[in-house]
Amino acid sequence: MLCVVDVVILCAATLSPALGTVISRQKHSLPDLTYDYGALEPHISAEIMQLHHSKHHATYVNNLNVAEDKYKEALAKGDVTAQVSLQPALRFNGGGHINHSIFWTNLSPNGGGEPTGELAAAIKRDFGSFQAMQDKMSAATVAVQGSGWGWLGLEKETGMLRITACPNQDPLQGTTGLVPLLGIDVWEHAYYLQYKNVRPDYVKAIWNIINWENVSERFQSAKK
Ligand SMILES: [Fe+2]
Repeated sequence: MLCVVDVVILCAATLSPALGTVISRQKHSLPDLTYDYGALEPHISAEIMQLHHSKHHATYVNNLNVAEDKYKEALAKGDVTAQVSLQPALRFNGGGHINHSIFWTNLSPNGGGEPTGELAAAIKRDFGSFQAMQDKMSAATVAVQGSGWGWLGLEKETGMLRITACPNQDPLQGTTGLVPLLGIDVWEHAYYLQYKNVRPDYVKAIWNIINWENVSERFQSAKK
């Protein structure tokens, strides 16, 4: 059986290559949108988009960088207690950055309608019809208790599409293993200024701006 000192030495030896990676990495940055803040109106207002992207997402990015800096220090010191205590901040802010980076690309002023090609066929195979998938994802998303996300994801082991919901900013792949294809943010910051407490109306409207080309590209990449 290993004593505590042995475990610490083993951990330090195991972590040292990763430490080099952490030290050399770039800071995370807020991704630009490929459309204007007002481009998704009337479905999502310019005011919501501006706050959501430039304030909320930016805060996740900033706090992720802070948490990673602290984690880097903890690694350098071999301070496992500090490393463990930083996990919630990494999960929350890392998840927030991952989720919103996907979300912006899942939306388009030219979106809506239905997917075509292999994604359309997979949706029909796994849910019966596009309408059935849409109904199931809308219901799962509206039913999120408190803040969270509804997701369409790919289960790589079976090749099946799955619908699920995650609480808070839990990232889909990191917490369920599903590869994210389409996410719907149902934190109140995503809709309250326009839809007030009527989350179902926001979820119904967002289908008009889903960028199915982006979702299809994610599906093709996820299958590889
Ligand atoms: Fe959000």
